[in-house]
Amino acid sequence: LNRYRSGQPLFDRFMTGESLPEVSIGLVPTMGSLHAGHLSLIQKARQENKLVVVSIFVNPLQFGPTEDFQQYPRMLEQDQALCEQAGVDVIFAPSVEEMGVGRQQSAASRQPSAVSSQKAEGGSQKTEDGSQMLELEAQTISFGDASRFWNTQADTKSPSAQSSPTQVIPPEPMTSVLCGRSRSGHFQGVATIVTKLLSIVQPQRAYFGQKDAQQLAIIQRLVEDLNLPVAIVGCPIVREPSGLAYSSRNQYLTPEQRAQAIVLYRGLSQAAQVFRAGERSADVLINMVKTELQSVSTIDPEYIELVHPSTLEPLEMIEETGLLAIAGRIGSTRLIDNILLSSR
Ligand code: PAJ
Repeated sequence: LNRYRSGQPLFDRFMTGESLPEVSIGLVPTMGSLHAGHLSLIQKARQENKLVVVSIFVNPLQFGPTEDFQQYPRMLEQDQALCEQAGVDVIFAPSVEEMGVGRQQSAASRQPSAVSSQKAEGGSQKTEDGSQMLELEAQTISFGDASRFWNTQADTKSPSAQSSPTQVIPPEPMTSVLCGRSRSGHFQGVATIVTKLLSIVQPQRAYFGQKDAQQLAIIQRLVEDLNLPVAIVGCPIVREPSGLAYSSRNQYLTPEQRAQAIVLYRGLSQAAQVFRAGERSADVLINMVKTELQSVSTIDPEYIELVHPSTLEPLEMIEETGLLAIAGRIGSTRLIDNILLSSR
């Protein structure tokens, strides 16, 4: 891999006649706690690339001060076994320091003392609520032949802990809708870390799930706007047989809450059904979902919106394609789901 990291942009290498990489790299960025949704991305990457890299990094930049950065499930050993089974070549699991997004620079650092006092030297420790917390040590785990391509030591340098890192700010209209309304700074954190991961790994292709449709649209736009030499591959939502979309946060749900959570998909499916029967009005489609969600009193809806799937502009009518997206809480767990409505 290092052979292809001459430091020259692809264009210069092309102009000087240096051959383009014959090793194609597929990157699947994740925050770990891998489930069937992640595995579908890995599978697709495995089909399309010579080398598959999975990054596992719980990114402090994308968590707000009252969000679940500390509780977020960390299970590197299990993830490692799943990756090995799925034919992954390299797991890239850097520490926050190695990624140059130290806690004092993160969105999560706005939380009072709890965050900084939790700083671990590695290994696991209990958080205030008693949940298990594992601070990942910087590590790259390579399987089989991949190790001979891979050396991260030189590739991830921490800037001075004191200086604020450069951040990537996506276009405001894309971050002021859907999840952006309540998660201020979230997509800036995502865009920044994804840009860093793309620069470190330099994949030809990177894989993202439609489950996080707003994230996918923002990253697609980021890669276009900044001319990043990577193809973004969107992958469909993987659901449990019940219809509930796989999510690392489903682990927070009790069995009763898990059963209630199915209403999200039920609402979306009903809207999709009337869409197929010819309905195109946002108000009607949104109201269908709203009415269905009202049938479960423990669901606290945050938004139900219909937007264009690429620009994320709110739609009043669907001309060709619309993204119907919802977010809601069950207890303290925030869940999202969506469905693409396409007349093509
Ligand atoms: P994470 O939530 O771990 O998700 C990693 C990838 O898996 C994302 O592209 C997400 O859309 C996809 N994914 C999650 N659940 C899915 C499902 N049920 N079906 C299909 N795909 C699914 O998204 C992130 O991490 C982070 O924001 C990240 C991009 C890694 C940046 O930190």
